Amino acid sequence: MKKKIENTIKFLKERFPDEIDIGIILGTGLGTLVNHMSQKISIQYDEIPGFPSATIEFHKGELIYGELYGRKVLAFRGRFHLYEGHSYFEITYPIRILNALGGEKVLISNAAGGINLDFKKADLMLIKDHINLQGGSPLAFKEVENFGERFVDMNQPYNAELIEKSISVAKKLDITLHQGIYASVVGPQLETAAEYRFLKIIGSDAVGMSTVPEVIVARHLNMEVLAISIITDLCDPDNLEPVNIQDIITHAKLGEEKLIQLCRELIPII
Ligand code: HPA
Repeated sequence: MKKKIENTIKFLKERFPDEIDIGIILGTGLGTLVNHMSQKISIQYDEIPGFPSATIEFHKGELIYGELYGRKVLAFRGRFHLYEGHSYFEITYPIRILNALGGEKVLISNAAGGINLDFKKADLMLIKDHINLQGGSPLAFKEVENFGERFVDMNQPYNAELIEKSISVAKKLDITLHQGIYASVVGPQLETAAEYRFLKIIGSDAVGMSTVPEVIVARHLNMEVLAISIITDLCDPDNLEPVNIQDIITHAKLGEEKLIQLCRELIPII
């Protein structure tokens, strides 16, 4: 694993300048933030040695380095999911690469279903804690101690200072920014009404198919994490409608506009 990472890093170091202030993982339908970057250098994932290949057509699979609102940013446009058949090591590879390139802070975005029915579609939710329901861990492998501690503390996975700054920027911009608990499932099937009811009972506010493994690895590497969900659909077990992927994408886009406004003010101060 170490060798693989070293190979990838050797390739990327020859192409990207050294400095990274912030890494950004862009989830489903959230790619347009990169249009706001300048002096971009981009590389397709499939050109990078060691990188898993993205399989879903709207996940572009591109690594972009550049300046965003005055900061040096490395953006991963397109992420890897367990439901695509990737391993835990593959889905968290971007975090390991970001860290090996010197990134110490990561902003993670995702599209999620709203379990908390006070939320509206296209609202933003700051993840303040999570529940891992994926049935595994990206740290459950033999060599883990070559990368860091095995028993990683999860007392405060999401950085308090980054959360506080996000809340104050959202207030200033008058953007609704909920705070809540994100439950991660494998997918790709959506949940049954009974599963949504269960997710609510155990204290989730949102549910999605990503992010938690990335956060676990980021904490393993002692990185500062901020994660924001865009609520794309409402999961009311008593009035469950058939899933409409187009509607999910539409609301991801609407939420993304708010996320970009937030980032414009937040990125310069974190
Ligand atoms: N469940 C799981 N993942 C999701 C959902 C959902 O309802 N909506 C968007 N991502």
